[in-house]
Amino acid sequence: MTDDRPVLTTRQGHPVYDNQNQRTVGARGPATLENYHFIEKLSHFDRERIPERVVHARGATAFGYFEAHGTVGDRPVAELTRAKLFQEKGKRTELAIRFSTVAGGRDSSEVARDPRGFAVKFYTEDGNWDLVGNNLAVFFIRDAIKFPDFIHSQKPDPKTFERQVANRVFDFISQTPEALHMISIVFSPRGIPASYRHQQGFGVNTYKWVNAAGETTLVKYHWIPKQGVKSLTAEDAAKIQATELGSHTKDLYESIEAGDFPEWELNVQLMDDHDHSELDFDPLDDTKVWPEEVFPLHPVGRMVLDRTPENFFLENEQIAFGTGVLVDGLDFSDDKMLVGRTFSYSDTQRYRVGPNYLQLPVNQPKGTTVATNQRDGQMSYAVDGGQNPHINYEPSLLGGAVEGPKPDHDELGPEIRGRLTRKRIDRTNDYQQAGEHYLLIEQWERDDMVANFIDALGQCDRMIQERMVWHLLMCEDELGLRVGEGIGLSPDDVRHLEPLPTQTLTDDEKARLSNLGKNGPRDVTGKVMTHCVPNERVTA
Ligand code: HEM
Repeated sequence: MTDDRPVLTTRQGHPVYDNQNQRTVGARGPATLENYHFIEKLSHFDRERIPERVVHARGATAFGYFEAHGTVGDRPVAELTRAKLFQEKGKRTELAIRFSTVAGGRDSSEVARDPRGFAVKFYTEDGNWDLVGNNLAVFFIRDAIKFPDFIHSQKPDPKTFERQVANRVFDFISQTPEALHMISIVFSPRGIPASYRHQQGFGVNTYKWVNAAGETTLVKYHWIPKQGVKSLTAEDAAKIQATELGSHTKDLYESIEAGDFPEWELNVQLMDDHDHSELDFDPLDDTKVWPEEVFPLHPVGRMVLDRTPENFFLENEQIAFGTGVLVDGLDFSDDKMLVGRTFSYSDTQRYRVGPNYLQLPVNQPKGTTVATNQRDGQMSYAVDGGQNPHINYEPSLLGGAVEGPKPDHDELGPEIRGRLTRKRIDRTNDYQQAGEHYLLIEQWERDDMVANFIDALGQCDRMIQERMVWHLLMCEDELGLRVGEGIGLSPDDVRHLEPLPTQTLTDDEKARLSNLGKNGPRDVTGKVMTHCVPNERVTA
């Protein structure tokens, strides 16, 4: 015991002189109801959990900074975006990052086969910018309306709560051919990163940059780790999770505390802002990468993580990211996933954390003064820095906040016309990039992917297996043949299957289908592995 330790108090500041015994009538009870200390202690405990995130429940936060290069290739960045954080070489912006797994609950294994969330909050002088991405370059679906179904397929059976993961996941995937590209990455070793420090990050969706003249450019974001990319096989992951479920959080925390600060280079790919009818994919389709040999990566700055949270709950459970959180010079594209995401994040956070979640220190903008006319609501805490104590409306002659300067002109992006409709995009091209991915990765990654598919599909119903082998053959003969062989299915066993009712095959795809299993390898001459820097196997 030392004299400098604080005296235990209640939340009201009353000193507590007995924290071992509740107040009772006589030593054996009964208890009394006016026992403020006891009731406050238990009732606070009863409320110590908030709902876990519906996805990405398990995660780890760290803090650091972004340092801009001021250029994009050999051009000043200002030619493409007026976003202030990118402008000057050496300019630093504070940031928070939360890495996560997607499907499991708050205490689930961090070496599960799953994408990893890669969400960065930049506290810029123009307010916050959230870049909410993943460690894999593409996504499973391209229309936000499918997200709840997709996630339900990844979660336990709602009656038995059994996690028959494979059968549920592949039931959905087998009916969702756009997922084949993402599935081919998740079932490669990149589906189990060795740690949060050894993985790439991607914005995944297409965004826009806007310059001072209002001109717009399509942009995709890539984070490349200076530590390199390292992954685990399922076997090695099993050894790790046998003794430690939180290996990634532990690794991140310990390396930063030891002064080994992880670092990533932020790169962008750029495209003129139109629909690019010359491409065999749609630039707004998040199931596709933009080929790097055509759209090269340009470094724009680096991120260094040099601080761990003071408190896990305050800074990891209550941090809230959203794709709608953009600053001047950065904008949305018309990507149909992005609009759904933008609604969903702040909607869930008002429920999960509370309507005043943006007043919490980890979510508050830091480089700017907040002056809204929003007041009150549950757990309202902060008085906005620029707030007039009396005038909480606008316009007003009496005082209060006024509108900022208007931009001189509208954005000069393309004009959009069309009828209201419900339609899939043209240029779905669901198999090509998945097949190319299989051919471009290293042999050990191909072998691992095949083994992982055999293992997972081996647990599925026959009709799901048949459709999945059909899809894999449509991606790449060798992949479909090897996986098929592993679960006892040949091309002849699946040839009878018609395309799905939701599919419209292109002429190329029809030709592949008529020759299923005998098409020979796709031509990948001159292609580079756009979204994947080399991957090193780590053994446990
Ligand atoms: C329409 C599709 C999507 C919907 C509706 C959606 C919805 C959500 C929701 C509701 C959360 C929980 C947020 C919270 O409780 O704070 C979440 C978290 C997250 N999502 Fe999505 N998501 C979608 C697609 C994606 C995609 C494509 C990516 C990757 C590019 C992604 C990355 C993340 C990340 C990283 C988090 C965790 C953020 C954190 O660490 O707090 N999501 N998503």
